[in-house]
Amino acid sequence: MCGIVAYVGERPCTNLLYQGLRKLEYRGYDSAGLSVLADGSIEVVRAVGNMDSLEQALEGNGNAGARLGLGHTRWATHGRPSVENAHPHTDCSGKISIVLNGIIENYAELKEDLSREGHQFTSETDAEVVAHLIEKHYGGDLLEAVRLTYSDVTGHFAFCAIHGDHPQMIAGARKECPLLIGVGKGEVFIASAIPAFLSETRDVIVVGDEELFVATPDEVQVLDLEKRQLDRETTRVNWDVDAAEKGGYETFMRKEIFEQPDALVDTMSGRLPDSGQVDLEEMLIPDDVLAGIDKIYIIACGTSFHAGMVGRYVLENWARVAVELDIASEFRYREPVLSPSTLVVGISQSGETADTLAAMRQARRMGAKVLAITNIMGSQATRDADGVIYTRAGLEIGVAATKTHLAQIAAIDLLALKLAQVRGSLDRDQVREIAAELKTIPGLLGEYLKDETATHEIAKRYFKQPFFLYLGRGVGLPVCLEGALKLKEISYIPTEAYAAGEMKHGPIALLEKGSPVVVVATDGHVYEKVISNIEEVRAREAAVIAVATEGNEGIKAYSEDVMFVPKTSEMLSPLVSVAPLQLLAYHIARLKGCNVDQPRNLAKTVTVE
Ligand code: AGP
Repeated sequence: MCGIVAYVGERPCTNLLYQGLRKLEYRGYDSAGLSVLADGSIEVVRAVGNMDSLEQALEGNGNAGARLGLGHTRWATHGRPSVENAHPHTDCSGKISIVLNGIIENYAELKEDLSREGHQFTSETDAEVVAHLIEKHYGGDLLEAVRLTYSDVTGHFAFCAIHGDHPQMIAGARKECPLLIGVGKGEVFIASAIPAFLSETRDVIVVGDEELFVATPDEVQVLDLEKRQLDRETTRVNWDVDAAEKGGYETFMRKEIFEQPDALVDTMSGRLPDSGQVDLEEMLIPDDVLAGIDKIYIIACGTSFHAGMVGRYVLENWARVAVELDIASEFRYREPVLSPSTLVVGISQSGETADTLAAMRQARRMGAKVLAITNIMGSQATRDADGVIYTRAGLEIGVAATKTHLAQIAAIDLLALKLAQVRGSLDRDQVREIAAELKTIPGLLGEYLKDETATHEIAKRYFKQPFFLYLGRGVGLPVCLEGALKLKEISYIPTEAYAAGEMKHGPIALLEKGSPVVVVATDGHVYEKVISNIEEVRAREAAVIAVATEGNEGIKAYSEDVMFVPKTSEMLSPLVSVAPLQLLAYHIARLKGCNVDQPRNLAKTVTVE
């Protein structure tokens, strides 16, 4: 949701903080700010808008000699985007400054109590209560004040605090929201995500859930809530620094679309040995437990939910297991029927989506086995699960998910194959055959991505259209839902996406002459049915834009435009048929002059309900 950074060390920190925030801007950009401590006083610089606004506000401000500071880039939850609501927040004395990511759920009653005790608030935010609580609890020991503050608040958050009495100390706490510590030589960085300090140090310590930390230039301590120091090793992160840069592409989203073949290769690497035995050793759910699973429940949000929809088809088809599916924000408020033989699969590229985490915890409380499919090492989802399948898509900066989505589909394919193997619903040769085809997909996709002429030409023809309808059947349905989401979230064009068979039950009323209708019509057992639906669309003189399998020349008779994709078996077709819809959305958004990496109102990680 928001991005937080902090620094303590030997170097002037204003620019280090600013550069760190630049790398976290994808987490939210309604406002930004930083606070630095020098000569015992804290200077705060804040601005509404993205980091460009903060850059302007910093001109001539931000003490150049400061060696301790905090920074924050915000996605508004409580309180509109404004300078007053921008972080960092300070206490009444101005000697304490804090930055926070997440939500303090009981902030209203805390604010009321603190106000009664004489504290003066300057913002509408929930986060500001943390500054005043630390002030209330401070008796000379910053860590103790942080610990007592942690015990007062409820919600999910990560925060860092500095105090004028401690010119070389940062303290803070984590409850669910990510917090990572970068350990340099005589300096320490703290951030919501690794890219903030990756150019300065690769040595990382993860602050765990419900833990505290205190950092000085030469020492980092991670402690439990009783202030017992925890033995926390430093991990070496080997991401290329340019993984967080654009690598020559015009936008992060474009870079990530073209990284999809690599994301598939990496996600499958080592997991599909030629033996045909699927190897998911890090999943940590033993084969005998998997063999006893009689129902799978997939829960996720947004694009990850669409990956889950693909998962339902392949799990039913290959593993012959009952599959239910629900968006996490609905699942968590239902009374789902779960048992120890239910496997709940939580899909979340960030591993931090509040609704998905809550649903996973509920499933665990109800006795189900929980498996996380996530892209982020050490994310909260990995802590809320009995096992993990990591997608290996690398860092995804663009708010619109692309390569992580494809990697999620591949991960679910691997899970379905593993279950089929364990349950004996496919024999070894069948598993080997599917595995062999899976390994060809990155090459097919790479070839496809070399020529985006069709999607670019189609985008030029239709980018001024006020509305798009997307249709699909079978595995084509989640693909069309994802294509529609991509278009709406980066171009702001209204879209509807429907099961093609549902169109006649209402959505067809939307069509008029020339309305663009994108239809996923790749080869498969429902292809003829899709053609019938295309006929219904054409009878209303709408414009059909088809996604079809290479070699199917017949589709041209039914379509104004066709985006051909490589031929694959039906269950694997989403791995190639999503890409044209990603590119179509991308080109349309670019033609409309939209900011595809930072679409309005969105954030890369939604850590609030
Ligand atoms: C996808 O393009 C969107 N950014 C959004 O729907 C996203 O998929 C959703 O918020 C879930 O995020 P997660 O995978 O990190 O849980």
